[in-house]
Amino acid sequence: MTQTNRSSTSPLTPVLTKRWLSPKSWTLRTYEQLEGYTAVRKALAAHPDQLIELVKAAGLRGRGGAGFPSGVKWSFMPKEPVKPHYLVINADEGEPGTCKDIPLMMADPHSLIEGCIIASYAMRANHCMIYVRGEALHPIRRLNNAVREAYQAGYLGKNILNSGFDLDIVVHAGAGAYICGEETALLDSLEGKRGQPRLKPPFPAAAGLYACPTTVNNVETIASVPYIVNGGADWFRTMGTEKSPGPKIYSISGHVERPGQYEAPLGTTLRQLLELAGGMKDGIPLKFWTPGGSSTPLFTAEHLDVPLDFEGAAEAGSMLGTTAVMVFNETVSVPWAVMKWTKFYAHESCGKCTPCREGTYWLAQVLERMVEGRGTEEDIETLLDVCDNIFGRSFCALGDGAVSSITSGIKYFREEFLALCRKNAGEQDKPESALVGAAR
Ligand SMILES: Cc1cc2nc3c(=O)[nH]c(=O)nc-3n(C[C@H](O)[C@H](O)[C@H](O)COP(=O)(O)O)c2cc1C
Ligand code: SF4
Repeated sequence: MTQTNRSSTSPLTPVLTKRWLSPKSWTLRTYEQLEGYTAVRKALAAHPDQLIELVKAAGLRGRGGAGFPSGVKWSFMPKEPVKPHYLVINADEGEPGTCKDIPLMMADPHSLIEGCIIASYAMRANHCMIYVRGEALHPIRRLNNAVREAYQAGYLGKNILNSGFDLDIVVHAGAGAYICGEETALLDSLEGKRGQPRLKPPFPAAAGLYACPTTVNNVETIASVPYIVNGGADWFRTMGTEKSPGPKIYSISGHVERPGQYEAPLGTTLRQLLELAGGMKDGIPLKFWTPGGSSTPLFTAEHLDVPLDFEGAAEAGSMLGTTAVMVFNETVSVPWAVMKWTKFYAHESCGKCTPCREGTYWLAQVLERMVEGRGTEEDIETLLDVCDNIFGRSFCALGDGAVSSITSGIKYFREEFLALCRKNAGEQDKPESALVGAAR
């Protein structure tokens, strides 16, 4: 993990990662020594609606991918509990390239727990579930320990800090499927069913977990809340951009000298992130990259100065997603990388709707034969046609995400796809770029 005070928009003292390098940062003791559990005292002295207004004023937007305004989402919960209310934390972190929530839970689990208490109080929820990717055993153990410490210290359970507010947190090991990160599939999975997206409406705030009012939020979203309570909305807005305020953890992987988690304000560019990450590995030039995981359309070296906030990424033709910045140098074949991602989506498609279930399967088949040198030029149009039949026609956003790398890959690197097919038509050898990819 590396922290930075560099920004195109405002200076930043590390916020979300400020404790990560402290000795035993994950313990209650360290957390309390470094301002931990001070925000919850303020929050419990306030009216729940004041907290919702504060989060709205801060402009916090969901860090799970879609960027929905968190305060607005919280305000959808009923004010008077008729049924139990639930806060569900999405710690599934399945998007390829995304690796920010697990380090956060490993290094600073109490910041998430404190955020859960404040958010639950604001939404009149007395139950909170943290749904963690099932394979992530170490973070699950660490969170369980932190929850135990918080109960012992009186931050969880009955009558928290004599406020009259009760909260129980359950850490739930997930079912190990990418689709279980989609919020309604996650709720089905929590209920013990097979994880498949639900039809919306009803939205979770009306009928979520066990058909009760529920809010699903990402780990990083909720871990940001104690800082907003302590620092205030204006302070939070000194970081990032007008419509995308606040700090963000960018996960940088691939062909850079120092891959890792880099905290920087929203709106930071890849050029700046690369500087922090020590530049391109071995000086080999950048070829393509994802701004927010494999579900977000690819960018190229042309996009080095795109501000990586929700608006900037979208205006340049992609999405901010989870700020999983995967960086690829010139040795990597685009069709090969796109094939690998597409196989992932074909494997992870839950099968509920036909465009995604059938389409991702066929996309993977066509891409595989192209990369193996058995494709034809018509295959490119077939790929685009199948993508067109998935995009906007699938039941959930997995379908849209599955075609992102294909359509953007062909948009920027059509010649590379064509070259694979031409080789097939006229020459014996496989293209060098495909072999480089295949050898990885
Ligand atoms: C296929 C798929 C996988 C997803 N995986 C995750 C995930 O692992 N973690 C996450 O927070 N959100 C994930 N999301 C987004 C959630 O559905 C939801 O928008 C998010 O948890 C809301 O939290 P936020 O408002 O704090 O961002 C996924 C969405 C889709 C369509
Ligand atoms: S888009 Fe894919 S993952 Fe989503 S419901 Fe349809 S088949 Fe399932």
